[in-house]
Amino acid sequence: MHMHRLEKIWLAFGISMLIVFLGVLGVGAFAKGIHPPGHHRHIVDPETVDKVAPFNEPGLRKIGDNEYEAYMLAFAFGYAPEKMEVPAGATIHFHVTSKDVVHGFQIPGTNVNMMVMPGEVNQLTYTFKEPGEYLILCNEYCGVAHENMMTTIIVK
Ligand code: CUA
Repeated sequence: MHMHRLEKIWLAFGISMLIVFLGVLGVGAFAKGIHPPGHHRHIVDPETVDKVAPFNEPGLRKIGDNEYEAYMLAFAFGYAPEKMEVPAGATIHFHVTSKDVVHGFQIPGTNVNMMVMPGEVNQLTYTFKEPGEYLILCNEYCGVAHENMMTTIIVK
C-alpha cells in the first residue's frame, strides 16, 4: 500500500500525541496519585443517619485553635443545626449529608458551594475571616418550600 508522505507525517503526529497524552495521564494517576473526587467517598445510610454518631448530634466540635468540625444534616426543608456561632478567623470543616433528597449547600459571598446527596457525606473547609452573619442556602430545587431552606453561621 502506498501512502503519501504527508499522510505518514500526519499519522506519526497523531500517534505521538496519543502517546504524550496517555503518558501525562499515566504520570498523573500513578506517579502523582491524582484521582477524580469520589475516590475516598464516605457512605452513610440516609434512613438511619440521624440516629447514629456523629450526625445524631449535628453541630460544631472544636478540634483545634479556632478550628471546628461541623456535622450538618440537610432535609426538606432545613438544616440541622439551625444556628452556629464561631469567633472570627474560625476554620470550619463541614461534613454534610442529606436525609431525603438532593439539596444544595451554598454560602453567598464565599466559595462554599456544594451538593448534598443522601447516602454521601460531602466535605468542604472554609475559614471565616470577616465577622458577620453568613447564610447557608439550598440551591438545588428540592420541593415546595425549597426557597425557605436556610440556616445561619454567626461569626463574631
Ligand atoms: Cu433543599 Cu432546595
